[in-house]
Amino acid sequence: MSENTESGRADADLAIIILAAGQGTRMKSRTPKVLHRIGGRSLVGHVLATAAELVPAHTLVVVRHERDLVAQSVADDAPHVVVVDQDEVPGTGRAVELALAQLDGFSGDVLVLSGDCPLADAGTLTAFVAAHRAADAAVTLMTAVVADPTGYGRVIRDADGDVSRIVEQKDANDAEAAVREINAGMYVFRADSLRTHLPAIGIDNAQAEKYLTDVAGLARVAGDRVAASVVEDVTVTYGVNDRAQLSEVGRLLNARTVRKWQLAGVTIMDPATTWIDVTATLAPDVTVLPGTQILRATSIAEGATIGPDTSLVDCEVGENAIVTRTDATLAVIGASATVGPFAYLRPNTILGAKGKIGTFVEIKNTTIGEGSKVPHLSYIGDTTIGVGVNLGAGAITANYDDIAKHRTEIGDHVHSGSHNVFVAPVRIGAGAKTGAGAVIRKDVPAGALALSVAPQRNVEGWVEKNREGTAAADAARAQADE
Ligand code: UD1
Ligand code: CA
Repeated sequence: MSENTESGRADADLAIIILAAGQGTRMKSRTPKVLHRIGGRSLVGHVLATAAELVPAHTLVVVRHERDLVAQSVADDAPHVVVVDQDEVPGTGRAVELALAQLDGFSGDVLVLSGDCPLADAGTLTAFVAAHRAADAAVTLMTAVVADPTGYGRVIRDADGDVSRIVEQKDANDAEAAVREINAGMYVFRADSLRTHLPAIGIDNAQAEKYLTDVAGLARVAGDRVAASVVEDVTVTYGVNDRAQLSEVGRLLNARTVRKWQLAGVTIMDPATTWIDVTATLAPDVTVLPGTQILRATSIAEGATIGPDTSLVDCEVGENAIVTRTDATLAVIGASATVGPFAYLRPNTILGAKGKIGTFVEIKNTTIGEGSKVPHLSYIGDTTIGVGVNLGAGAITANYDDIAKHRTEIGDHVHSGSHNVFVAPVRIGAGAKTGAGAVIRKDVPAGALALSVAPQRNVEGWVEKNREGTAAADAARAQADE
């Protein structure tokens, strides 16, 4: 049942079990806790990604609450992972026991992680497994000394300073509750130690659950070595139990991502207001200005400037492009192009190199050729625009006739007058021009000038005659007398 295809690189003696069966009551949410998202992935998605970096021989995820939703999300993120169903027996001990039953014949080390602790990075976990192996321990706990241990299991040590057991907060007496060394909820166990002790764990505790933490005490009594790795950076142990912790853990993850890109050569002026998903990529010498979100699979090429106040979702930005105060999803922005301020780019907007999408412009499902410009106050949808085109201010494509969407095709080097409506389907031939205010209902041949507005007629003296005594009439008379 091994899942790791890169068996050459895999650690054959390592299995990872991720616990994700709990409900997460304190989230007060229809969405299962481990599927809440930070930094572009679900909580359990982050844990799966980190687990994959360790290249274990086996990865298993235990599910129960909203089983199908969680299992589907896990399968989407990590298809090779084995999903294990927890039964009606509650507790982290039962979850691991059922996962272990799928690891028949495996005699290596089992790293147990929680689906709600997304900040434990691969470096920390690799060192953790290495420490367990170096100490030749049966059980190694990750622990941290914190200012406020509320809610965590406490690590109880004997007179020699060795770990003797873990006591859950709800089962702790006053002296135990005062201990500030907490169980981070991440462990390495020798598989045989789990096989020996898990069946012996009962539910005689405040929560009537099978506690995984009881393995530590049982192993100790059996004379097995129980070690503890005390982490210095306590943030790697932070879990999400409520929405306040969700945002705090999200902020810490983002701070890490921002710092990573800064050290890779990206200027990020204000880390506190810049949000970058772990799935986005930025090249050196990109500049990110305050209030900017760079999300999902967005990639930004060298020298581009993004922001301030810009959201990019699944976008591709070319070298030296400038994107200012813009909201864009699934858009491609060419090299040295400029976008904004105040532009709205909807899916399948493709702006060519050196092109321009200006102020108060909305674009959807449209390709704009190299050097072409839609500078002001426009809506362009379902359109193909050639190279060297300039659309005057207020260009509108009427792409929807109530029944279906239709395309507009604008040839190379077309210049349209201000305030044009292109009633699709319609084609403007190469090099054509259109007059101000034109409503283009018929195709325009290449090189033609299209006019659709009736010639202007001036009715002389109309104001003086019909608006006697107004400021307008006085002004008109004064100018006529000059
Ligand atoms: C657990 C530890 C506690 C530790 C803390 C660290 C136990 C008994 N206690 O407490 O010592 O300080 O983590 O964060 O383990 N889960 C299952 N099946 C279950 C119950 C939980 O898969 O039956 C999963 C949850 O989805 C979650 C993880 O296990 O991902 C931890 O469960 P949770 O209920 O949050 O445990 P804590 O009370 O935080
Ligand atoms: Ca928890």
